[in-house]
Amino acid sequence: MKTVAAISLFILTGIVTALWFGFDLSEATDSLNYDDEQEGIEDKVVIKFSHVVAENTPKGRAARRFASLIHERTDGDIKVEIYSNGTLYNDQNEYDALKNGHIQMIAPATSKLTERFPKWQVLDLPFAFPNYQAVEEAYEGTIGRTLLDQLEPNVKGMTFWYNGYKQMTSSDQPMILPSDFNRTHVRIMPSPVIESQFHALGASTTQMPFNKTYNNLEVDFINGQENTLSNIYSKNLYKEQDYLTISDHGYLGYVVLMNDEFWSKLSNEHQAIITQALEETTDWIKRHSIEINDTHLRQIKRTASLDVHYLTKKQRVLWKEAVTPVYEETEPIVGESLMQEIYRLQEKYQ
Ligand code: LMR
Repeated sequence: MKTVAAISLFILTGIVTALWFGFDLSEATDSLNYDDEQEGIEDKVVIKFSHVVAENTPKGRAARRFASLIHERTDGDIKVEIYSNGTLYNDQNEYDALKNGHIQMIAPATSKLTERFPKWQVLDLPFAFPNYQAVEEAYEGTIGRTLLDQLEPNVKGMTFWYNGYKQMTSSDQPMILPSDFNRTHVRIMPSPVIESQFHALGASTTQMPFNKTYNNLEVDFINGQENTLSNIYSKNLYKEQDYLTISDHGYLGYVVLMNDEFWSKLSNEHQAIITQALEETTDWIKRHSIEINDTHLRQIKRTASLDVHYLTKKQRVLWKEAVTPVYEETEPIVGESLMQEIYRLQEKYQ
């Protein structure tokens, strides 16, 4: 009798507990639900896209735009994972990471390729491009094609992306005449032409990664730098500087690169979608990069107390004269035909 009572009590307790907490079958049924994140996860293609700038820059925004076009047009079968601000790889190691297949996509500033592929130095020549049409013609014409042909196996050049003209910032004195560069120590990207440009102007230089620039300005290891307004604004470089010269003395743009082995394994359909999305994103960044940089200049003027100087025509001529030797030094490196193409663009758009 006691045993029967104990069993009944056990069953009753079980029923009461179940009623109290509910028959929570949701977990059990959830795991049976169709979950398109899970199903076929091994079929999903992931493109890891690493870059070093902030999200609100032309490159940062173009990368996100590209990712969302790809998501939309492949129904999520290709996922573009973006690692901005150098969080995965920085500008010193992203190229090797791409080449070795650790990531599938990068978009470095063209200057970052100049040590590996010396002909790419042509794009860094000071005052090479008189206006945006000249840049476009260089990227999308003979110069762009010649440079993309220089790349090594396993690195596929997809397109050029636009940012903007570089401007000078400094902390000790305004950069107006070439003689103002004398006591300036400038951060540069790893590019022999950029180094020569500053040496011709009388400045000293140190090459350093983009993401180290702010700290080095802060501790006064460097007291000047050149970059686009979007990079100067989004990385707060202007907060450590007292003077900004709108000099437009060189152009900073990007080359979008993919790991070729990865690319060749994609289906024809996926390759076509990526090509089309990149074409549209290139078109977008070409149209919007100018306005993004203009907006960032307005923000800098609104929020900072730094002096902004627009280089006059006369001052520009003096800067150009000072950097003439850079053209002479660069010609044997990049070859006559690329130089002739630069001169042709200068004549056409001057
Ligand atoms: C720099 O190093 O200053 C630039 O290359 C950063 C970038 O990618 O725009």
